Amino acid sequence: MNEKEIMNAESLYLANVFSKKPLVFTRGKGALLWDVNGKEYVDCASSYGVAALGHCHPKIVAALKVQVEKLITLHSCYYNDTRAEFIQKLVSLTPKGLNKAFLSNSGAESVECAIKLARKATGKTEIIGVMGAYHGKTMGALSLTWDKKYREPFMPLVSDIKHVAPDNPDKLREAITDKTAAVIIEPIRGEGGIRIPPGEYLSQVREICDEKKVLLIFDEVQTSFGRTGKLFCCQNWDVTPDIMCLAKPFAGGLPIGITVASEDIMSAFKVGEHSTTFSGSPLVCAAGCAALDVLIEEDLADKAAVNGKYFKTQLNELASKHKIVKEVRGLGLMLGMELRYDVYGVIMKAQNKGVLIIDAGKTVVRILPPLVISKEQIDTVIKVLDEVLGEEENERASSTVLN
Ligand SMILES: Cc1ncc(COP(=O)(O)O)c(C=O)c1O
Repeated sequence: MNEKEIMNAESLYLANVFSKKPLVFTRGKGALLWDVNGKEYVDCASSYGVAALGHCHPKIVAALKVQVEKLITLHSCYYNDTRAEFIQKLVSLTPKGLNKAFLSNSGAESVECAIKLARKATGKTEIIGVMGAYHGKTMGALSLTWDKKYREPFMPLVSDIKHVAPDNPDKLREAITDKTAAVIIEPIRGEGGIRIPPGEYLSQVREICDEKKVLLIFDEVQTSFGRTGKLFCCQNWDVTPDIMCLAKPFAGGLPIGITVASEDIMSAFKVGEHSTTFSGSPLVCAAGCAALDVLIEEDLADKAAVNGKYFKTQLNELASKHKIVKEVRGLGLMLGMELRYDVYGVIMKAQNKGVLIIDAGKTVVRILPPLVISKEQIDTVIKVLDEVLGEEENERASSTVLN
């Protein structure tokens, strides 16, 4: 199929729910992607954080090749060597106490499991989320997602869910009732604009949850796997949740969701109360084993901290040069650049110049590169952003003169 035929086929036969860009990618390696015409792009979106190891990491490819010849699928009613290896590796890395996992296929599913688990473990129904949060689009996860453009068309959603102002421990304390089972928080709000909490906030939330005897769930779907300079983002503040939701990069690019909790909490689920057919498929677990090995062997959390600092410094230089930039935020390689205007033009212009970036709300450019991005590739991205911000400023200045 040629470029046009590919785009036509997807447009004709796939549900029209994605905000499509007119690009067809057929190949990737590390932090680079190539389109069907052979044009090269630096990928600073990494499929919304999935490709943290970069594209087609050789160790993922090798592990998949071996496993695909052995066993691709096996329901979790049977035991499997690769699944056992993956889960052992995973719980050796999760924060202390979080040593029982449920495996699923996506971030939203990891949140669904957390909601059910919190209700079952506490015998209470209410879950409190925060305004601006994003937890996915299945009915339970959607109920906790804040943006009304996602929620309103699908009302009524799951009951006994409420949202409080973010970063405000007093508001949270006031909102908790004797019906509250859990509080769910993204340690850094991703979709909500790369919002880093104030220094003491997460430990204050931990204290409030302990005092009020409600469970604390961290949704680390976007922030974990070394992205923020620590394996899990909550480790930046030394706060451990009761339940943690993981997904995106944990299987090297294959679909995975993981909900981890303590043995005590996870044992609230009785046989049959929660499951999914694909839970812990050997192929996904083989990729998961390789992904965790690469994460540790290549020191990717430390690399994210160092390269993230460099990237942020360069972005801050752009901010001081271009008035269109309001603020640069982020930790590790989870970076946001807030503009004074809609980011659409900047994203499209950068794309035309071979750099893929995404939005996090209307005015924030989100930069989530593979953790293997090199300093040279960061320099390329900065050069392109410098040009693009300059062009946007010139266009806005001339349209103001014309008006
Ligand atoms: C924090 C967070 N939670 C949950 C999700 C939902 O994950 P998925 O799209 O895999 O269902 C996302 C997706 O971006 C996310 O960023």
